[in-house]
Amino acid sequence: MTILLLGSGGRESALAWKISQSPKCSHLFIAPGNGGTGAYGTNVALSPVDFPAIEDFCRERGVEMIVVGNEDPLVAGIRDYFAERMPEMLLVGPGKVGAALEGSKDFAKQFMARHGIPTAAYRSFTAETVDDGCRFLESLKAPYVLKADGLAAGKGVLIISELEEAKASLREMLGGMFGKASATVVIEEFLSGIECSVFVLTDGAGNYRILPVAKDYKRIGEGDTGLNTGGMGAVSPVPFANAEFMEKVEQRIVKPTVSGLIADGIDYRGFIFLGLINVEGEPMVIEYNVRMGDPETEAVMPRVASDLLPLLVAAAKGNLGDLELAEDPRTAVTVMAVSGGYPGSYAKGKAISGLDGAGESLLFHAGTALNADGQLVTSGGRVIAATSYGPDIASAAAKSFKAIEALDFEGKYYRRDIARDLQAL
Ligand code: AMP
Ligand code: GLY
Repeated sequence: MTILLLGSGGRESALAWKISQSPKCSHLFIAPGNGGTGAYGTNVALSPVDFPAIEDFCRERGVEMIVVGNEDPLVAGIRDYFAERMPEMLLVGPGKVGAALEGSKDFAKQFMARHGIPTAAYRSFTAETVDDGCRFLESLKAPYVLKADGLAAGKGVLIISELEEAKASLREMLGGMFGKASATVVIEEFLSGIECSVFVLTDGAGNYRILPVAKDYKRIGEGDTGLNTGGMGAVSPVPFANAEFMEKVEQRIVKPTVSGLIADGIDYRGFIFLGLINVEGEPMVIEYNVRMGDPETEAVMPRVASDLLPLLVAAAKGNLGDLELAEDPRTAVTVMAVSGGYPGSYAKGKAISGLDGAGESLLFHAGTALNADGQLVTSGGRVIAATSYGPDIASAAAKSFKAIEALDFEGKYYRRDIARDLQAL
């Protein structure tokens, strides 16, 4: 089978690594890919949101299935485009309406309310109802959670401890702080607990498989301090997400989500990412995403023991049936090396060396590129992820830290405390 994977991050490196191992994969293209994805297939210089160019490429190369890694093409309607122009194309990822679970927080909250899925209490406001918004804030206890409705590159959530500051931020958000994305703002109750990420692959026909559970580390600084990033590391499995917790997740969240999509007439074939919080043993939804997580995928894919490709094909065709998704029992820990200055401004084009010091660890490239001389250089904030297996978190983490220490590029930074909180549990 000929497959086109869209995206260029560490997540796509891990997906490409996994898909390319399938005996059924005859050719894998990655668009645009990065400095490392050429090891798993052929990089193609196409933008994931240039649908006509993707269509031309698919026709020329006989692509039979598109796997969408990042959310932008989904929110922009790639499934709807191909359904109209090339209905025979298999595609992993929801259509525009389903993608609104990630593209609009207000839509996601209404969906959860409609289907009785546990989440924080909320209300939505626009510029016209800003005074009501301020009164709603007065009725809540600190801290206050304000969320831009639309996609804001992961920056659209503010958590504020002072009431007056929260009111001022609400006005600023509705005034265009995140452009159109914050024309509507969701204000919700603050939930206190530890977070984890659960990934579900579903086929639009009510069947689903739950992938290995993971936890990511969002802040730039050790001890979860400083600015939010795309994610600095990940661990799978997650000790507190034990069988009892996962049973609650499946019964209270996964099943009503999958059946709710069907009840609402949304033909959802692809990954659902449940951003969950464990509130005293009870799982609640913080957010939905309509793709895999990054860097969670770099820890999750190495723990998928089954061939992923037949599962993707079956999800895209609408018949997951009884296909098995087996888990590798080992623990996987991912540590991300980032460019100095990230998530603020940072330099690009720095030469990268030391990849041969990774030992048994897997290196998943994220922000890397090959320059005109064919040399591997940095090209993004998150540069390379190292994932290692171990019988427990401590031994897997130690191997990943060693692999990241062996890497060299100017300004390299990583969090030395990835997974430490889970070892103490
Ligand atoms: P989101 O983009 O919705 O995932 O929000 C980003 C981060 O903000 C989450 O990963 C949480 O750490 C935090 N967050 C969002 N909503 C809440 C909430 N209701 N209570 C506490 N923390 C939250
Ligand atoms: N790691 C969180 C995300 O992918 O959104």
